[in-house]
Amino acid sequence: MSQLYRKDIISALDFTREIMDSLFQEADNIRRELKDRKFLDYCRDKVMVTVFLEPSTRTRLSFHFAMIRLGGHVVDFGLEQAASIAKGESFEDTIKMVDGYNPDIIVLRHREPGSAAKAAEISSAPIINAGDGWNEHPTQALLDLYTIKRELGKIDGVVIGIMGDLKYGRTPSSLSYALSKYRDVKIFYIAPKELQVRREVIERIEGLVEWSMVERVEEVIEELDILYVTRLQRERFSNPAEYERLRGSYIITSSLLMKFKKIPLIMHPLPRVDELSKDVDVLPTARYFTQAENGVYIRAALVKNILGV
Ligand code: NCD
Repeated sequence: MSQLYRKDIISALDFTREIMDSLFQEADNIRRELKDRKFLDYCRDKVMVTVFLEPSTRTRLSFHFAMIRLGGHVVDFGLEQAASIAKGESFEDTIKMVDGYNPDIIVLRHREPGSAAKAAEISSAPIINAGDGWNEHPTQALLDLYTIKRELGKIDGVVIGIMGDLKYGRTPSSLSYALSKYRDVKIFYIAPKELQVRREVIERIEGLVEWSMVERVEEVIEELDILYVTRLQRERFSNPAEYERLRGSYIITSSLLMKFKKIPLIMHPLPRVDELSKDVDVLPTARYFTQAENGVYIRAALVKNILGV
């Protein structure tokens, strides 16, 4: 039985290298099986509920597609405004109620850091954290590493620049934790001082990866295998003037990249706003849309392991 059987997925720190490597393998297998058949039947008697109480496009859709491709069923909670939360229902009651319908798995996104862990205490169905505020987004880290593995053939020894809003972003923290399970990884955190990576992230990776902080991408770009760009997390700024001031403080364009001898793989969790110009899309190392596609296979592999099918 998989080590993930009936486990909650709350933090990328919970993954071991062994678990991640086996998920990458399983994702490749599922991808292969889906070449011949549109739907598989691993999950034909299983139900997933997706509860997204913050906006989402890719994460929600890719969980839906993953479950449907596995032959399972999906019930979506719908918009917060349309649910009883709008009438004042508490988070605890909402989770208790959803769990009471007896789903096999609950995928949760919520604006509060720690909400997924809280839901896991309440729910008997396994919880997958699909983003808890600025804290973590562990399945995004899985698809990021899966993409790196497919594109570079390895994760050990990679040099990656993680750029953008590292203070409020949850993908940089989960990505850092997942990378810390591999050997000889080097991370450059590239951001204006105000948006540099949170201290708790550094505390958790200290001694496991080599890291440093820089302000400008130009300082390190030629050393990088991967440049992972993220957007300013506008919704998490308490001061709109601060957002406006920092907006546009970093922008990756094709003409900037073309100045350098070596152009790294360009990744981005998406959505992009101002920080990654559309003219980068035609460069041969742009990988963000591939990354999003990979999300379906790796999430299918994860769900299959949690459900033990
Ligand atoms: C990310 C998220 O929700 O944290 N999006 C995603 O899941 N692909 C990144 C973001 O919103 O900036």
